[in-house]
Amino acid sequence: MSTSADISHAAQLLRDGGLVAIPTETVYGLAAHALDPLAVARVFAAKGRPNFDPLIVHVPEREALADLVSEFPATAVKLAEQFWPGPLTMVLPKRDIVPDIVTAGLSSVAIRIPDHPVAQALLKEAGIPLAAPSANPFGRLSPTTAAHVREQLGDAVDFILDGGPCRVGVESTVVQITGDQVQLLRPGGVTLEELEAVVGSVVIPSANAHPSSAAQPSPGTLPQHYAPGTPLILATGDDQAPASGKRTGLLCLTAPSNTIAYVVVEELSNTGNLTEAAANFFAALRRLDAAGLDVIIAQPFRDTGLGRALNDRLTRAATK
Ligand code: TXA
Ligand code: MG
Repeated sequence: MSTSADISHAAQLLRDGGLVAIPTETVYGLAAHALDPLAVARVFAAKGRPNFDPLIVHVPEREALADLVSEFPATAVKLAEQFWPGPLTMVLPKRDIVPDIVTAGLSSVAIRIPDHPVAQALLKEAGIPLAAPSANPFGRLSPTTAAHVREQLGDAVDFILDGGPCRVGVESTVVQITGDQVQLLRPGGVTLEELEAVVGSVVIPSANAHPSSAAQPSPGTLPQHYAPGTPLILATGDDQAPASGKRTGLLCLTAPSNTIAYVVVEELSNTGNLTEAAANFFAALRRLDAAGLDVIIAQPFRDTGLGRALNDRLTRAATK
């Protein structure tokens, strides 16, 4: 675990334009000084991330927002009061100080106040906003421990802050705020039901309305993403049979009674709890990916609460 000396060291590296992997309550992020275009360029290079995919800017508290966004409508205030610090990202009109490389040239910027104590301490000590995508190579599984970051990015980062396993386990929910309208761009750690309880209705853009990546309302939400190296197929019913002669693994919320056909079974929550399942999700997929399987079969989740975010990740992980 990180000490306060580690946090001071990381804060200095970031102020000097370095790259630091940081724990958040959702997944680990690959952080850089958000107002330093060269530092941000190193993030894109380290991840192999296409430059049309904008980054989230992290700040420690709402007071830090005034420099970055030009509007903070009443709807955003309500959401901030309920969900910040926490796994919610709000896309808002940006100020000129936010470099184009951060927002991929868009006139909006995505902002999040993370809830992890190490992230909070780092942001306060660094005194600068941090641009941080998930700390994985582009398109691959998101990291939920410091060891995952080390395996995937290793030498590409200047320092890794260890904050233990991530509590939430899936990325933040991304919403675009336009006046009093709230549009869901990515399901995540704050559920649709929780958002609706605060703002009434939430607009959900149709997944097929923007087929080309450049025209996506949220450019990072490409159809293929979060993918393991092993082919992954979605089960269509509870009785999905593994193909004969293939080493098959199963990813499921609760294990079926008969699992004899599977080489490995990853049960995400033996009580069927979606919060527990989300916290285990990426690490379980990673273990399946490392098990030398021919194929991973994944059972979809019930489409409610965190199940929506998990189904979104599974659909993008599935082999097309
Ligand atoms: O939980 C999280 O959000 C993690 C931690 C590290 O904070 N970060 C994360 O970042 O998941 P990333 O880069 O993997 O995902 C950022 C998402 C992408 O889907 C991107 O397209 C969207 O946010 N996004 C960023 N800026 C945007 C903008 N101005 N307009 C629309 N979408 C935006
Ligand atoms: Mg990501």
